[in-house]
Amino acid sequence: MGLSTPISLTMTLRAFLLAGLTATAPARSTLDPRQASTITVDLTKTYQTIDGFGMSETFQRANQMHALSESLQRYVLDLLFNRTSGAGFSILRNGIGSSPDSSSDHMVSIQPKNPGGPTAAPKYIWDGNDNSQVWVSTEAVKTYGVKTIYANAWSAPGYMKTNNNDANGGSLCGVTGASCSSGDWKQAYANYLVQYITYYKEIGVDVTHLGFLNEPDLTTSYASMRSNGQQAADFIKVLRPTLDKANYTNVKVTCCDAEGWSSQAGMMGSLNSVDSSLGVVTAHSYTSQPSSPINTKKPVWQTENADLQGPWATAFYSNNGAGEGLNWATKIYDALVRANASAYLYWVGVQGGATNSKLVRISDDKKQVIPSKRLWAFANWSRHVRPGAVRVGTSGGPSGARVSAFRNVDGGVAVQIIQTGSGAGSVGVKVGGGFTTGAATAWLTDNTHDCDKQTATVGSDGTVSVQVPGRSMVSVVLEPSG
Ligand SMILES: *[C@@H]1O[C@H](CO)[C@@H](O)[C@H](O)[C@H]1NC(C)=O
Ligand SMILES: *[C@@H]1O[C@H](CO)[C@@H](O)[C@H](O)[C@H]1NC(C)=O
Ligand SMILES: *[C@@H]1O[C@H](CO)[C@@H](O)[C@H](O)[C@H]1NC(C)=O
Ligand SMILES: *[C@@H]1O[C@H](CO)[C@@H](O)[C@H](O)[C@H]1NC(C)=O
Repeated sequence: MGLSTPISLTMTLRAFLLAGLTATAPARSTLDPRQASTITVDLTKTYQTIDGFGMSETFQRANQMHALSESLQRYVLDLLFNRTSGAGFSILRNGIGSSPDSSSDHMVSIQPKNPGGPTAAPKYIWDGNDNSQVWVSTEAVKTYGVKTIYANAWSAPGYMKTNNNDANGGSLCGVTGASCSSGDWKQAYANYLVQYITYYKEIGVDVTHLGFLNEPDLTTSYASMRSNGQQAADFIKVLRPTLDKANYTNVKVTCCDAEGWSSQAGMMGSLNSVDSSLGVVTAHSYTSQPSSPINTKKPVWQTENADLQGPWATAFYSNNGAGEGLNWATKIYDALVRANASAYLYWVGVQGGATNSKLVRISDDKKQVIPSKRLWAFANWSRHVRPGAVRVGTSGGPSGARVSAFRNVDGGVAVQIIQTGSGAGSVGVKVGGGFTTGAATAWLTDNTHDCDKQTATVGSDGTVSVQVPGRSMVSVVLEPSG
């Protein structure tokens, strides 16, 4: 059985991995005692608060999930949202449609036709399905307890824009530098977005975050709308009071999902004028990766990244390819530790096709689903670093490793050790600042392990000892005693 062989539901993932992989983790006897080291966690040194980890099933990807057999539907939902058997994702990013129809992978608008101008009575249409995003959202919220739903429009409907098309760029009529003979559509677009939230509220799904742009620095053949920082600020000045008037005071406005970290940073100057109306700054990582903080006091989310073109890869580590799990564990680390991000979202969770643009692949015959190690890299973060956790300081650690730590709302401390090098060793983890270690657990992910529990020994001084193999990620979770 090769790596690319799809896993069937009748076979457990672990059995598949044991049968299918030839790489082996270093045995204990190969550990180099010189690499024994201690990580000290400093709970008094606090950084950003974490909102969570997630992905999207927009552009009709949710329809692909929904078309699976009932047992595979449950399996993929578990892989995404279950904290015991899957990634335990805590954020779902939905797409708010702007297209006049559902052909191809279009996201259909809730007002496909111009109602007769910006001040005409709206003619909304709700199909109660939203390309199966209603189903995924309901499952996420009701079955798995997901609390953060990010609804994000890629564009306004075409008739609200300078180019009369929801695709191919164009701008929202009425923002600076975008005047249209049809009038100013800012208020109509704000009303439209609020109506979308209301449709979800009516089915028991609370949208918590609302975005009105996606990659506004890119013109492309699918839904896309251009905006600079000033134009985004113009619209936020209308959107925030519209939300408040509809009693959605807790819904946070996000902006602007720019194509890269640097391009989003470049929009911040103009967004300062609406600072009090802006909830979360959102950026993608395609044209530049998060390597330093964006200059803002607002929480910043990395809302989209993926290996879009790479051939489907399931390995945790092989030759440092763009789709490998270890690479994604490291990318998440960079965003959280180097760039102060409060959330990290992959592009698509589950879909068919032969690239790494998703975490879980639906086989071509649609009878099987195959999780990649990217999913397990996310699991290592998402399962143990829960919404509300605060990043805390660390010092020390094995040579070549990236170390991070978070204090969860329940008082537990989660420490991540990503060893990108080949060196293996024993590592001690010590939490300072009045923390008394009760129980401790470690989990290992590498080529041959997925969420496998490891031995973690608590010493008399509270230091927890774990083995960290080369090319692996180890999470250690320490519960306070008492
Ligand atoms: C998550 O997975 C575990 C283990 O398979 C299972 O027992 C549990 O019921 C699942 N949780 C939900 C909410 O489905
Ligand atoms: C506004 O929302 C609050 C709770 O969020 C609720 O108690 C109140 O009844 C709502 N008011 C209206 C007018 O819907
Ligand atoms: C990190 O983000 C938080 C908000 O989540 C902000 O208050 C803080 O100033 C940021 N720190 C840096 C160094 O940018
Ligand atoms: C990473 O995730 C996999 C799956 O949950 C798990 O086996 C492994 O132990 C996890 N590692 C950490 C550090 O949580």
